[in-house]
Amino acid sequence: MSTTELAATAAAMVAPGTGILAADESTGTMEKRLVAQGLPATEEMRRQYRSLIVSTPRLGEWISGVILYDETIRQVNDEGTPLRTIAAAAGMLPGIKVDKGAKPLAGSPEEKITEGLDGLRERLAEYVSLGAKFAKWRAVLTIGEQIPSATAVHTNAHALARYAALAQEAGVVPIVEPEVLMDGAHSLERAEEVTTEVLAAVFAELRAQRVALEGIVLKPNMVVAGTDCPAQPSVAEAAEATVRTLRRTVPAAVPGIAFLSGGQSDATATAHLDAINRLGPLPWRATFSFGRALLAPALRAWAGAQENVPAAQQALAHRAELNGAASSGAYDA
Ligand code: 13P
Repeated sequence: MSTTELAATAAAMVAPGTGILAADESTGTMEKRLVAQGLPATEEMRRQYRSLIVSTPRLGEWISGVILYDETIRQVNDEGTPLRTIAAAAGMLPGIKVDKGAKPLAGSPEEKITEGLDGLRERLAEYVSLGAKFAKWRAVLTIGEQIPSATAVHTNAHALARYAALAQEAGVVPIVEPEVLMDGAHSLERAEEVTTEVLAAVFAELRAQRVALEGIVLKPNMVVAGTDCPAQPSVAEAAEATVRTLRRTVPAAVPGIAFLSGGQSDATATAHLDAINRLGPLPWRATFSFGRALLAPALRAWAGAQENVPAAQQALAHRAELNGAASSGAYDA
């Protein structure tokens, strides 16, 4: 596929007023979310939950694409319609998480390296046959006293670029996700320093491996202080640190940046996104690719009961609409 075609898909993924819904929790993560609500962690519960999400009325007004998981891209609703087809019919591009999770890094076992490159070309070909238009790979970096190590930064950047090159070869837009976790007591300044280093390494590898920047979407963390940091910055300070970091590291050829929410509350994530956009004009579209910050209120409202489906869908549509506004700096808290 040509760069022009990849760029057209990437532009659609970050179209004005829209962002991406990350509904690609692995089975293990989804089990944790269900159990936390006191629900049975069965395949049937996951199917019902994902069915209600993708069939939420009007969702396509604010959601350009939905990231699915291997199980979900094959699942069907009660009527037997594939969930990927429901998403596409509502104007939401189906995407697919293709990494196989973050595993302990040899030589530095408290750090992680994301696996899943072996056989990736073949898996991508199958996902393309199932209608996937984009893919996602998440790398995880932890901030600690001596970490992230240069080893963790460079091995993860290298793997992200290998994935991105294979995705583009298959004709799907890679979402490149290097997540610097907000766990810990580190300051805003330390988060900025580490995120800058990580993004610089990622873009060096993307260039070295001939990835077309016009045909990717970057999914970074916002630059925020660690959850346990006693000095929590204001929304404006975090937004300024985020924009400064991204301006220093992300080439203008990248069409869009779609942030992860990373454990921020839904309201905080939206407020940050709005504040980031109010610092514009920016060289790229800055929008959302939230998981928890879009879905947590819906999961709570659903509580596994059929009669709660409309309330759950309303909760999701509400967050999607607010984040759609924030992606243009037009959110009114
Ligand atoms: P959160 O927004 O919940 O961090 O999830 C986004 C995501 O896709 C993580 O890979």
